[in-house]
Amino acid sequence: MRSQRVGRMRIPPRYAQLGADLRGCALRGDVSLIDGSRVRGAVTLRRTAVQPCCTIKDYFMKALLESLRSGDKDLELARAIDPARLPEHIAIIMDGNGRWAGRRFLPRVAGHKAGVGPVRVTAETCARLGIKVLTLYAFSVENWKRPRHEVETLWRLLRYYLNQELPTLQKNDIRLQVIGRQDALPPEVRRELDATIDATSSNRGMTLNLAINYGGRAEIVDAVNSILDMARLDGRIHTLKLDEDLIATSLYTASCPDPDLLIRTSGEMRISNFLLWQIAYAELYVTETLWPDFTRNDLLLAVLEYQKRERRYGGLSASKGSPARAALDEESLQPALHES
Ligand code: FPP
Repeated sequence: MRSQRVGRMRIPPRYAQLGADLRGCALRGDVSLIDGSRVRGAVTLRRTAVQPCCTIKDYFMKALLESLRSGDKDLELARAIDPARLPEHIAIIMDGNGRWAGRRFLPRVAGHKAGVGPVRVTAETCARLGIKVLTLYAFSVENWKRPRHEVETLWRLLRYYLNQELPTLQKNDIRLQVIGRQDALPPEVRRELDATIDATSSNRGMTLNLAINYGGRAEIVDAVNSILDMARLDGRIHTLKLDEDLIATSLYTASCPDPDLLIRTSGEMRISNFLLWQIAYAELYVTETLWPDFTRNDLLLAVLEYQKRERRYGGLSASKGSPARAALDEESLQPALHES
């Protein structure tokens, strides 16, 4: 089915298939309803008179459930996921390609090659699940230290991925973005990245950020320098004051929510200079699985584990923060306070 145009909005085929009584689905869960009102987030889409209502989050989950056959071992996992508590943004450190190859007595680049499939599966599953942003760490500013042949193979694989996967990106309404210092990339890689970014720019389902020539410290330095440049241009340099909002909106990821869930494959307990600012309150999930072995099953397990976590952002849990609980805590502290 082709996508439809309504006014200035494009309705991707999957929404059109829904037969929903909506005039457009724009900007990540930002929906224009038939009565002209706009609603953000989890909204009830009004379907044609005889059909029941569904929520936009249920609809994305539906896309995943429909793609799974009965008897598929992932179906039960997918059904266990609460669509109302999905992470908005998942970030992944795809690690372990070299070890995967080493265990098979293959050259390291064979591990990178085997890592392309999981990139496709992960992006498609996240899009079908209703994740708004997926950020994949594909090449760090430090990765230039690797042998030239390995670096060149990574560029070749990236170009292969971009050529091969454009239909999958379009079919799943995925918009590609790149974060990192792109000016240092080989010109043919930049050209192909730009072409794919362009071709997917009107997709509104999920944003796929590829972190390429990316470093968390470099990103913060770039953000601060861009703030200084702007202030110099505006003549505000002498009164300039930095705050968290100003820095956050000057990062490469300015248009994205911070990651809720950071997954690292291959068991290493490191952040590796990835999204240093943005992961301040991300839930961390480290799996022993090496990236080339990472499957839809692993991803669903990570999301389920995320849904078990209680996120407090430095505060207290709902029950511990209640006035009654605070009074009890104070009472139980009294003897200790008197002793000291
Ligand atoms: C880390 O594993 C992985 C990388 C540096 C590259 C990731 C690249 C891919 C998954 C290939 C395709 C990517 C895209 C976006 C198409 P490592 O080599 O450091 O593994 P090791 O720690 O076992 O040596």
